[in-house]
Amino acid sequence: MISAMPTHVPLRLAPRQAVAALPFDDRPRLQTYSGRVAILQGLKALGLGRGSVVLVPAYACGSEIDAVLKAGCEVVFYPVTQTLEPDLEACERAVQANPSINALFFTHYLGFAQPVGALRQFADAHDLVLIEDCAHGLLSCDETGQPLGRTGDIAIFSYMKTLPLTDGGACVINRDGVAFDPGALRPPKITKLLGRFLYQIELSLKGSAPRAAGVFHVVVRGPVRLLKAVLKGGRGQRRAAAPAERAVQQAAPDNSEEMEVLALDPARRDWALSVLARSTLARLDLETMPKIRRRNYERLLPRIKQIEGLRPLFDRWPPGVCPMAFPVVIEACPAAVFQRHLAAAGLSTKYFWSYFHDIFPRDDFPFETRLKTSVLALPIHQDLSEADMDEVADIVARVMAEQRSA
Ligand SMILES: Cc1ncc(COP(=O)(O)O)c(C=O)c1O
Repeated sequence: MISAMPTHVPLRLAPRQAVAALPFDDRPRLQTYSGRVAILQGLKALGLGRGSVVLVPAYACGSEIDAVLKAGCEVVFYPVTQTLEPDLEACERAVQANPSINALFFTHYLGFAQPVGALRQFADAHDLVLIEDCAHGLLSCDETGQPLGRTGDIAIFSYMKTLPLTDGGACVINRDGVAFDPGALRPPKITKLLGRFLYQIELSLKGSAPRAAGVFHVVVRGPVRLLKAVLKGGRGQRRAAAPAERAVQQAAPDNSEEMEVLALDPARRDWALSVLARSTLARLDLETMPKIRRRNYERLLPRIKQIEGLRPLFDRWPPGVCPMAFPVVIEACPAAVFQRHLAAAGLSTKYFWSYFHDIFPRDDFPFETRLKTSVLALPIHQDLSEADMDEVADIVARVMAEQRSA
């Protein structure tokens, strides 16, 4: 199975100081448990909260929307253009219609840089705070070679979109006079992350030393899972006896499951980057990852362009992009169906942003709604070789041909 996300963690004892530098190490930052926490903490540092109104793109994951709402802000959606840039004419109309709007949020989708100069100018001209979402572009640069995350008053990152970590995000400050509360964060509950961490180690061991992976499973991961199941079982029994809670769950709206995935859990709103993620991060080679991701994207691009029934989401391929994935718009059949057939053929993909935040007005944004239900993200991550890319292309072409003739 070709995995949708990178899983390989380096099994080395010594950290790799020389190549573990993050692109924002030269500025004030908070390393958080997730991108959501980074957004919430960044808005707090900027003094945005109750009474603030933030322009947010209608093409959005949903978890950034939830973080803005949980910070106490109101959200006003704006459309994106056909090339997925913020529609500044629509933003202009929104600002004219609602003078309370005081911030503009924008996203570098899949690591492809937005026109940061024009966005900065627009924000300054309208006295808006600029919030730059680099969740997908941790190692990406704009066309001038400048790392993303240096234009917004704050910029946020989500490590797990690019790196094999249990958790991780960051909020970076680019404006004078803004500072984080030194006591803003506390360590996360490691018990919530240990299972995933041990799974990553076992998977990585399997690649290089399968026998050691077997021993690790029996001696470490197995007992930890068992212990967790026992503890959870106990808690589950206690929880099952709460009928009032069950009644609330039954009355939940249809997309409650989606909201559970998208939401910023209030119990984790002040969680820092865990020691597990921090120690893995220090052992990763962040320098070669963009090269491998670009090489893999370029290998796939001509093949994908030849396949009828789908198209690359971006028709540009600028220098500097470190792509999070290779996004394709599925045109010939429902994306969810296509994804299932790809998985059956051995290719795991992400159904990109198919979940909706429950405040999102789908009828007002048909273009963005269609995008949210028709894009699949094909893997091009650093664990994959050029031969893997050829296999990805073969599987996609074969499955699409089957779908078109069905
Ligand atoms: C554009 C964007 N911003 C922010 C986030 C939140 O990141 P995290 O999942 O690390 O909380 C996501 C998550 O998917 C995202 O896609």
